[in-house]
Amino acid sequence: MPEFQEKAPLLHREVIAADIFRLTLHAPEIAGAAHPGQFVMLQINDGMDPLLRRPFSIHQVSAGGNIQILFKVVGRGTAQLAGVLPGHHIDCIGPLGRGFALEKKDRLCLVGGGMGIAPLYFLARRLLQTGKMSEKDFVLLGARNREELSIFGDEFSELGYTVQTATDDGSMGHHGFVTELLDPILPVMKRVYTCGPFPMMKICADKAFTVDVACQVSLETHMACGLGACLGCAVTGAAGGYLHVCRQGPVFDANEVAWTR
Ligand SMILES: Cc1cc2nc3c(=O)[nH]c(=O)nc-3n(C[C@H](O)[C@H](O)[C@H](O)COP(=O)(O)OP(=O)(O)OC[C@H]3O[C@@H](n4cnc5c(N)ncnc54)[C@H](O)[C@@H]3O)c2cc1C
Ligand code: FES
Repeated sequence: MPEFQEKAPLLHREVIAADIFRLTLHAPEIAGAAHPGQFVMLQINDGMDPLLRRPFSIHQVSAGGNIQILFKVVGRGTAQLAGVLPGHHIDCIGPLGRGFALEKKDRLCLVGGGMGIAPLYFLARRLLQTGKMSEKDFVLLGARNREELSIFGDEFSELGYTVQTATDDGSMGHHGFVTELLDPILPVMKRVYTCGPFPMMKICADKAFTVDVACQVSLETHMACGLGACLGCAVTGAAGGYLHVCRQGPVFDANEVAWTR
């Protein structure tokens, strides 16, 4: 798979909610090669702090050679990234890793929790562009509250998906876990794609397994290099041994993963 390193100018910075940002970067080589579920490693500044690049899913690509990332501030690197202003350049390596498998047209359900929504938007668009979705396909979105979720429901429903939402505080959609929304629709689904917190994906994987529905999961681990060199991203595989999330993933068939953590 082709990988590129580009000094990408930041074109646009959006504040989506408290501590949640969406950046648009002009990175034509990465945009041209990207597949949903792949990620980029960003060098947040030219100095030594933070020393290591940070991984972010590709949230969207556009025909003009732009990529978007959607992120939440959780620490030093993301706080600095949130402060980068349009006009500055960010060093990006990508597209990296193995993305979602886009199979023949099936009944689909995309399940995103928190920032796990980020790669699912690129997936939803690519499924539409390649004629692999229908309006009977579902997108289930979960977050802590309405503020974190509000724009995404509209963005997915504008693509033609049937969207349902769940929030921890009940301020939008179902009051509870997004995985509870799966129960009534899962028996008619053929495939689930999910990205979000590990426990959420584990529940999706368990439920899909129970009714024999294919399930792909996008795992998040700490990544020092993102390039297969440090072996810091290993998780235990269902067949024993380790899976290296940066090269063999981040997307796996749910049955490849040992769901113990
Ligand atoms: C393949 C991949 C795709 C990702 N895509 C996105 C995305 O689209 N949007 C987004 O907001 N975030 C995404 N992340 C997570 C993002 O990389 C981390 O939030 C970021 O690296 C944190 O950097 P920091 O310097 O701000 O935090 P740090 O100061 O390094 O850490 C702050 C806190 O966050 C925890 N943390 C840091 N990195 C991770 C991680 N990878 N997994 C779990 N916990 C972590 C630390 O344990 C610590 O508690 C992705 C991670 C991976 C591996
Ligand atoms: S992050 Fe270094 S090998 Fe995966």
